[in-house]
Amino acid sequence: MKYLISFIQIFIFNILGALIAKYQCDCSLFVEESICLGIDTCNWINELCVNKDCFDMDENECDLIGKCSLNQEGNCESSSFCTNYQVKDQIDCMIKKGNCGAENQKNAAGFYQCKSYNSVDCNSLAAENCTNNYEDRETFCWLNSTKQCQSYNINSCEGLPLDVCDKLECKNSNSQCSAFLCSDITSQDQCTYVQDGTWGSLTLCQWKEDQTPKCIERTETKDFTNITCSKMTDGRYYWKNESCVSCPKNYEDNSSSSLSLILYLIYVLQYL
Ligand SMILES: *[C@@H]1O[C@H](CO)[C@@H](O)[C@H](O)[C@H]1NC(C)=O
Ligand SMILES: *[C@@H]1O[C@H](CO)[C@@H](O)[C@H](O)[C@H]1NC(C)=O
Ligand SMILES: *[C@@H]1O[C@H](CO)[C@@H](O)[C@H](O)[C@H]1NC(C)=O
Ligand SMILES: *[C@@H]1O[C@H](CO)[C@@H](O)[C@H](O)[C@H]1NC(C)=O
Ligand SMILES: *[C@@H]1O[C@H](CO)[C@@H](O)[C@H](O)[C@H]1NC(C)=O
Repeated sequence: MKYLISFIQIFIFNILGALIAKYQCDCSLFVEESICLGIDTCNWINELCVNKDCFDMDENECDLIGKCSLNQEGNCESSSFCTNYQVKDQIDCMIKKGNCGAENQKNAAGFYQCKSYNSVDCNSLAAENCTNNYEDRETFCWLNSTKQCQSYNINSCEGLPLDVCDKLECKNSNSQCSAFLCSDITSQDQCTYVQDGTWGSLTLCQWKEDQTPKCIERTETKDFTNITCSKMTDGRYYWKNESCVSCPKNYEDNSSSSLSLILYLIYVLQYL
């Protein structure tokens, strides 16, 4: 059975190619202090690795964790009502303040007031009322290239309108928005992973020494150690039983059973 599983896994990797990581580990999976402290969102307290509280986050970390937001005083706090926040750039209500909509006009102080959103149908909105609305937590409305209102998925760079492409940390190249690729990275130091925008999944990369050294998509984690495993994967892989494995969704740590292999297969098939 074990060989069959390995065979299937190798087979899957060959079809799939790159290792893609969707989920961040729960901090409790990092059992070594130095590893734990190397992950932005984790803290080591009483010999345990725990999720950091918002008030322990610095400015940069804070805004990129959905559940935390910078308040007016510049302190990081648990995201509260959208109406408590004002931003310089409208889309920051969505990106940085935990899925908030935004008013269409600046206020007297020159900021956009964030507001909670009522679910809308993007396709039915007039152009003037389109942007900074949501269909649901994953889908927002923006004007497309023909200036009509269209819905977009927050987890993917592919085809995003160019005026939000950079803001969601996607690649704007030849008037096309797409995710950065490993091959876009040109230095060995930076060759760790690329992310499909601010919220999307991570693709792991690997430096390939060749006549022309380059950054390519990673297909296995064998060369990771207990020290590099989580660090090089933004905390989406962890060291378990002497190997570097991907974090389970919502921390259901059942990854060695054949049931999870079946689930994994189903998961993979969805994305083929
Ligand atoms: C845009 O929204 C405002 C306020 O809800 C509404 O009065 C207006 O008619 C809308 N514009 C169009 C063209 O539908
Ligand atoms: C823009 O959005 C409208 C409405 O959703 C859609 O019908 C149209 O095909 C889109 N245009 C482009 C260029 O995608
Ligand atoms: C990593 O593994 C080495 C060798 O097994 C061990 O000596 C070291 O303490 C480990 N380091 C951490 C941070 O887990
Ligand atoms: C760790 O891996 C070894 C060798 O693959 C296996 O025999 C052992 O059962 C595993 N231990 C756990 C706790 O999964
Ligand atoms: C494995 O999954 C079962 C059922 O989903 C759950 O009850 C159990 O707690 C899980 N085991 C671990 C170690 O998380």
